[in-house]
Amino acid sequence: MTGVLVTGGTGKTGRVLAALLRERGVPVRVASRTPPAGAPAAVRFDWNDPATHPEALRGTDRVYLVPPVHTTDPMPLVRPFLAEAERLGVRRVVLLGSALVLPGAPGALELAAHVRARPGWVVLRPSGFMQNFLAPHPLGERIRRHGDIRTAATTGRVGWIDAGDIAAVAAALLATPDGHTHAPRDHLLTGPEALSYQDAAQIISHHTGRPIRVVPVSVAEQADVYRASGMPHAFATALASVDAGIRTGRDDHISTAVRDLTGRPPRTFAGFVRQHAARW
Ligand SMILES: NC(=O)c1ccc[n+]([C@@H]2O[C@H](COP(=O)([O-])OP(=O)(O)OC[C@H]3O[C@@H](n4cnc5c(N)ncnc54)[C@H](OP(=O)(O)O)[C@@H]3O)[C@@H](O)[C@H]2O)c1
Repeated sequence: MTGVLVTGGTGKTGRVLAALLRERGVPVRVASRTPPAGAPAAVRFDWNDPATHPEALRGTDRVYLVPPVHTTDPMPLVRPFLAEAERLGVRRVVLLGSALVLPGAPGALELAAHVRARPGWVVLRPSGFMQNFLAPHPLGERIRRHGDIRTAATTGRVGWIDAGDIAAVAAALLATPDGHTHAPRDHLLTGPEALSYQDAAQIISHHTGRPIRVVPVSVAEQADVYRASGMPHAFATALASVDAGIRTGRDDHISTAVRDLTGRPPRTFAGFVRQHAARW
């Protein structure tokens, strides 16, 4: 078939992307380690089992690439997958990268450079996901259970983005094999405003009536929280260090890419909170 292989097809962006592509009549193959039995559009795909890769790719000409999660070096698993994709004639790869650079994890930058270097392949660099404020993310879990946000970012701001807006951008880029060929190969994706954790807590409190406190912690304490949630040691350390960058204003950006590529504005944090108010 010609169509799109959606890796991470059960995740926050992949699930929405698959639905958006189907609405447009685009054939979709949804990759998961545990595809539901009897679902013809689902395929078993495990980064740690390279034998599943060629079958998932076969006949597709576009790929939404969600790299292996919770690792500081995706390249050993992703490089052979992309080589196979090129061999099988995949014309477009849209990579879910990140605007939040994990210190000590150059593999993510290497992967983005690898994708950007190929004609027609595109890197998305979303800012922090609004969905982090919902369980089961450790941040959202903490808000739900204890009514507080523990952060080492102080008052640094982030251009939080709804995962649904990332999916909408990916859908615009993947709906046709050659759409947006002349668009840039790298898109910084953000919501419409940059907000600190204090701003976010205030908005959640306003719409839910539940007071949310922001508690300053060190980067090391933040890493402990991530480790306790089950993340591997090195990844938890690198992820916690992102807060140190936020503190310096490194992620205080907004871009127009969502509007430019989808024709509509990105969702506001208040709109996101109103939609999910019952989850806090
Ligand atoms: N959260 C943020 O603020 C943020 C910001 C910027 C970028 N990002 C990037 O967003 C990406 C997605 O992260 P997320 O936490 O939101 O995850 P997610 O996409 O919601 O879920 C992870 C997906 O990966 C799949 N998966 C997990 N292990 C797999 C494996 N071994 N082989 C194949 N598929 C596997 C899961 O599918 P199955 O369980 O069905 O196999 C699931 O669909 C990450 O690369 C992260 O760097 C996140």
